[in-house]
Amino acid sequence: MSDEIEIRRLHPPELRERLDALAAVLHDCVAGGASVSYMAPFSLEDARAAFAGFVAEAEQGRRVILAAFADGRLVGTVQVIVALPPNQPHRGEIAKLLVHRSARRRGIAELLMAGAEMEARAEGKTLLVLDAVTGDDAARLYGRLGWTEVGVVPGFALYPDGRPCDTTYFWKRV
Ligand SMILES: CC(C)(COP(=O)(O)OP(=O)(O)OC[C@H]1O[C@@H](n2cnc3c(N)ncnc32)[C@H](O)[C@@H]1OP(=O)(O)O)[C@@H](O)C(=O)NCCC(=O)NCCS
Repeated sequence: MSDEIEIRRLHPPELRERLDALAAVLHDCVAGGASVSYMAPFSLEDARAAFAGFVAEAEQGRRVILAAFADGRLVGTVQVIVALPPNQPHRGEIAKLLVHRSARRRGIAELLMAGAEMEARAEGKTLLVLDAVTGDDAARLYGRLGWTEVGVVPGFALYPDGRPCDTTYFWKRV
């Protein structure tokens, strides 16, 4: 199934050319109820504004953005935050692992995470951290991919509809 899937880092100027497609994936995930920083109502324009901020940071070398293409269509994305305080040059943070609902359960997130780890290493990172909604699909995925669970923060964030959710922190050496 993963034969038709392509995972790659987006560089300028392609990053900006793909802005609408990246925003569409974020919009779909929030519409599906994902707790990824944003509250309902969350329009396509809101998603575009959010991703424009990420793209600007990527253009400054502060984060890396990868995309997954299924049959040429951008259906998923993940980010590595590389700009961290001076005493943590070896550490990176994984953020915004997002797969469009129409493309889920094909192993795309797993491939995106492998790509993110590779890009993080290329950036000189040896330790990665991330957090996920406790018990969610993503948290299960991280456990399967060898991430170590640190613990749970109860009521850390909200779902888009305002319900609270717990968060689990993970780390991995890469
Ligand atoms: C979490 C998320 C990124 C997972 O994306 P995905 O591409 O569906 O992930 P995968 O396909 O790699 O794995 C999902 C499941 O499909 C299964 N799967 C993978 N390939 C498969 C295949 N070819 N056939 C059937 N099942 C498959 C995996 O085993 C996994 O099973 P599980 O439910 O037992 O864990 C996606 O659900 C999403 O975008 N959610 C909303 C945003 C979000 O919460 N992001 C995380 C922020 S921390």
